[in-house]
Amino acid sequence: MSPRHTPWAEARDFSIGLRPITPEAWLEGGEADPSARKDALLAAHGDLVWGETDGSRPGQAEAAGLVAEALGRDWRPVTDRDDPPLLAAARQVADDLILMEKRDGAWRLTALSLCAPTFFTAPEVLGKSLAELHGPVNGFAERFLARVERIFEGLRPDLILERRNWTVVNSGDSFTPFSAPVRARVGEITPQTAGQALYTRVERQTLRRLPDTGGALFTIRIWLDPLERVAETPESLAAFAQAWREAPEPFRAYKGFSLYAPLVEAFLRAQGETHSVNV
Ligand code: HEM
Repeated sequence: MSPRHTPWAEARDFSIGLRPITPEAWLEGGEADPSARKDALLAAHGDLVWGETDGSRPGQAEAAGLVAEALGRDWRPVTDRDDPPLLAAARQVADDLILMEKRDGAWRLTALSLCAPTFFTAPEVLGKSLAELHGPVNGFAERFLARVERIFEGLRPDLILERRNWTVVNSGDSFTPFSAPVRARVGEITPQTAGQALYTRVERQTLRRLPDTGGALFTIRIWLDPLERVAETPESLAAFAQAWREAPEPFRAYKGFSLYAPLVEAFLRAQGETHSVNV
């Protein structure tokens, strides 16, 4: 089966890339019991996967209400747990849930459930502004920050926005809070095993307004596929090869592509993709 999302076919560089989607398309589902995965992570790494700030409970409850509406059921199932609203809602969906609220003139992250992080943790981002969250992203302040702030400011309640980004990683685990232990294992991969041991990692993100409390709910869903899946059709292989080889240098540097370049290139060549740029 080909990957569900192929954002490399559309964007080879950082982009805002937000597009409207219908309410029915908001949460993609597809995981039978998200709470099984998330509860295990909460038990083992509670400090990494959950965080809330004072005063965020009304926004959390409104966010949980939107999730309940989408699922057609109560966000607080009948159990003996007394979770904060955003956590109770997050246990019912595959997505990570992030509450953004305007505090002291800036859009800040006020609560989050983060069980599929791509190299960051809840305590690192809790309370941070959009500018601070994107500090590590090359060129974000110059190219995107003002526009993203305007989007948060002007987001209409009837609009749901979606964006997707992508990278390549040497882990099929959705819970990757830290990059170092993952990247340290890259030497275990050979050109012959690259198709199975490297993964495309797509983040599908959505954004919607919380009309009553004025905040915004940001969702992140991770889709992981062994790299070999991009080769399932000649068209998808060509699209991936072009995106990989033509990605601009700041994008490649930020995503750590040089670590994987010899392996990905060997994989592409083995699939018959011989044209080579940027290696
Ligand atoms: C909808 C508005 C947003 C846009 C357009 C946006 C855009 C971006 C872009 C272009 C990147 C670089 C990676 C990539 O996407 O290819 C990025 C990374 C990131 N974004 Fe956003 N972002 C948005 C909202 C948020 C929010 C609400 C959070 C809150 C958690 C967030 C957290 C991050 C983090 C943690 C990174 C990785 C930074 C790192 O490498 O340490 N973003 N974002």
